Amino acid sequence: MFDFAPDHDTPKPSLYADLAQSAQALIEGERDDVANMANLAALIWMSVPRLNWAGFYRIVDDELVLGPFIGKPACIRIAIGQGVCGTAAATGLAQLVPDVHAFPGHIACDAESQSELVVPIAVDGQVRAVIDLDSPHLNRFDEEDAAGMELLATVARQIF
Ligand code: SME
Repeated sequence: MFDFAPDHDTPKPSLYADLAQSAQALIEGERDDVANMANLAALIWMSVPRLNWAGFYRIVDDELVLGPFIGKPACIRIAIGQGVCGTAAATGLAQLVPDVHAFPGHIACDAESQSELVVPIAVDGQVRAVIDLDSPHLNRFDEEDAAGMELLATVARQIF
């Protein structure tokens, strides 16, 4: 049994340090990429408050393709460079979007989403996937969330 009970009052740096440690424990010794992404999506969902979508897009044949996630059904394919996810994939940089309506080319999968954080997962300098978090609250994510999710991305790198 996986026994991890996140406390949402925990300061963000500790929350994300615990998240990265739990993620490492979850994927340790398992080499099925779908199973590992599915478990990490569930782990993010139970650890990070105030989300309406959390999951993966992987680069397959030069485009982003939907991977395991929690939330409403989402767009399946996103061109590199398009939307928030495609921008993270194209630049290799985290995208912290306080108001999705102000982001040129934002792709709306769930009308409830108001803010978004996307971090790339790179292996040997090549982006292989992104982790996408959506929130129904404006300005939900800050630099501590971005740093925390980048830490998680360094763990998730082992999947790819
Ligand atoms: N909003 C994203 C699309 C993916 S969904 O949020 C799940 C984007 O602009 O790339």
